[in-house]
Amino acid sequence: MKMNAIETALMNNPVRAAIQRHYEAPLLERLGGRTPGERVLEVGCGRGVGTEIILERFGAAHVTAFDLDPAMVQRARRRLRRHLPGRVALSVGDVTSIDTPDAEFDAVFDFGIIHHVPDWRTALGEIARVLRPGGRFYFEEVTRHALQRWSYRTFLLHPTHDRFSGEEFAAGCTVAGLDVDGRSVERFFGDFIFGVATRH
Ligand SMILES: C[S@@+](CC[C@H](N)C(=O)[O-])C[C@H]1O[C@@H](n2cnc3c(N)ncnc32)[C@H](O)[C@@H]1O
Repeated sequence: MKMNAIETALMNNPVRAAIQRHYEAPLLERLGGRTPGERVLEVGCGRGVGTEIILERFGAAHVTAFDLDPAMVQRARRRLRRHLPGRVALSVGDVTSIDTPDAEFDAVFDFGIIHHVPDWRTALGEIARVLRPGGRFYFEEVTRHALQRWSYRTFLLHPTHDRFSGEEFAAGCTVAGLDVDGRSVERFFGDFIFGVATRH
């Protein structure tokens, strides 16, 4: 599900980028380490800040990134033009049907998109499918606890049926073949879960 106008404005601004760079990325790095020289996929790349972080902070050799919303991919294309086509491949795509062969990537990053996906378990299955055995899934997700808040319900647009708690998201990873093994943390009163899961 695409973002509404309010969330689009919240995502496409320097405050969001600063949170991603200075809070989320260091936390994910502590949980899962860097990805030097690796082939990485970013699902739901938005305007491409996450892809920059994966290249510059995590040290990936190459990032394939997609988003459901063509307008966001266009923004990412402008932001990442100096890396195209050598280190980045961008496209419109859907995380519930990833257009890639099995076991293609060393790591997958999800900066806050799966809570937008009605069939989130299928998304996790697809992420597991495209990871090689031993590959890592880095995630930052918004839980049901946050989505039930008045502010989220009033101003933002998300699927309402079958949302997940942090615990349920980690359990969904396990079912998909992604072992969290205690490498997840809930933050901000349980509104967010951050973690890293390994493909077995
Ligand atoms: C909250 S934004 C996060 C964007 C970016 N990852 C960030 O952290 O700034 C959620 C993004 O997920 C995208 N999205 C929603 N459903 C998707 C799907 N099924 N497949 C791929 N991207 C999706 C939206 O278009 C939007 O860009």
